[in-house]
Amino acid sequence: MTEPVPPRDRKRKWIWWAVGVLAMVFGLMQLFPATETNPEVLGDLAAPPAVAKILRRSCYDCHSNETRWRWYSRIAPISWVIASHVNAARQQLNFSEWATYYPQTRVRKLEWMGRALQTEQMPPTAYLLFHPDARLSPDERAELERWIAASLNQPGS
Ligand code: HEC
Repeated sequence: MTEPVPPRDRKRKWIWWAVGVLAMVFGLMQLFPATETNPEVLGDLAAPPAVAKILRRSCYDCHSNETRWRWYSRIAPISWVIASHVNAARQQLNFSEWATYYPQTRVRKLEWMGRALQTEQMPPTAYLLFHPDARLSPDERAELERWIAASLNQPGS
């Protein structure tokens, strides 16, 4: 004969079941790793060193084929979110393919960059929380804006 389970214990059991199920789901997610790739650099942007340094620090993790994938970028489901962001970002603007863009495309992307900087949309806030070093100082923002203006004045650069 089995004793009836007291209600308190039944509640505890339910919690352990939930924890177990969550752990299993989390484990199963790991079987589907995101495809983190750094494709070949086809033609890196040739910007003045000061500008290149800022872009590398603040933008290259998403807008280049030289993403520094971190340990947490390998854990699902974070990995899925990060990989899809990087893919979306590369599609819009990829400094590793800059030299392969048509001049007209470069102009458009420079204009976009100017707008994204002015409205402080880039780098994204969520990224800055994890990478405070990517924050742009007002001076760096101004440096980038000067470079964008100069490049727009001299098509083909
Ligand atoms: C954490 C990743 C990340 C970083 C770092 C980042 N971006 Fe982006 N960026 C994105 C994503 C994702 C998109 C695509 C957004 C979309 O498709 O809606 C994007 C889009 C853009 C666009 C396309 C046009 C627009 O306004 O939507 C420009 C221009 C841009 N970024 C510039 C920059 C610059 C300049 C930097 C560095 C100062 C930077 N980004 C840093 C993720 C990033």
